[in-house]
Amino acid sequence: MNNTWAESIYATSRQVKSLEECWFYHSIDLPGFGTVHGGWDLRGRIDDYLGYVDVSGKRVLDVGTASGFLTFEMEKKGAQVVSFDADNEYQIQYPRFKRHVTEQDAKQRLQSIRNNLEKMKNSYWLSHRLLNSNAKVVYGDIYRMPEQIGLFDVVLVSQILVHLRDPLGALIQAGEFSSDVLVITEGVFSNDTPLQKLIPCSDNELGRGWWIMSTGLYREALGLMGFEITSLSTNSYDCRTRKRNINVTTIVAKRKKDS
Ligand SMILES: C[S@@+](CC[C@H](N)C(=O)[O-])C[C@H]1O[C@@H](n2cnc3c(N)ncnc32)[C@H](O)[C@@H]1O
Repeated sequence: MNNTWAESIYATSRQVKSLEECWFYHSIDLPGFGTVHGGWDLRGRIDDYLGYVDVSGKRVLDVGTASGFLTFEMEKKGAQVVSFDADNEYQIQYPRFKRHVTEQDAKQRLQSIRNNLEKMKNSYWLSHRLLNSNAKVVYGDIYRMPEQIGLFDVVLVSQILVHLRDPLGALIQAGEFSSDVLVITEGVFSNDTPLQKLIPCSDNELGRGWWIMSTGLYREALGLMGFEITSLSTNSYDCRTRKRNINVTTIVAKRKKDS
């Protein structure tokens, strides 16, 4: 493969200097700044979150990296990480229906998603610099990840499927980049039948979630994709935005030998 061309898929780093330019999705400890609080505090919980998968010496893809906390923690464990996140506001598909918003509201909403995304990317790049990270970054749409990024020993898909209209399509796409292990950390409900539950209700205020999938759906979908589940564990994590602990399930799946 032509190396110059391969390098060009990676984002250029940003020179971010102040916290004012940033919005942190994750709480993180940064040299010179101390603890910076974000929406979720996963500090000290990385092993639970990754389902105790050993990432040392592994090439890892962090899908939906946000402020990058998981990328930087996996790097600390000796992984070589590529962080992936949305390129622009049009790729973020929070539930919204025409009957709920005027055209003006819709424009403002897109603008606010764009501002948040840019400030979140800044939080990633500030941390990247302060932590001397070597992680590479690719911005794009989860449904169309560039094949030039190559194959990974471990692909991590965490707390992103819930925000997508077609989570199964996105999972299938992400799985194609894993040569060995796929870790999925998401809200999941326990049911052996392959089911997908719609989160928005017509009489409720709309949030940011579309679907929760059942354990049975993950088992069947992963089987179709050539993986088998090796562990499934549910843990509670500090969601500072919602001021409470929230259960999140980590599914570790391994590619079957013949697929
Ligand atoms: C809720 S955060 C998850 C952060 C992190 N993975 C974790 O588990 O703590 C979801 C991330 O997915 C990204 N995202 C949402 N839609 C996307 C899309 N279509 N393509 C790529 N990234 C997307 C968002 O920008 C955000 O950074």
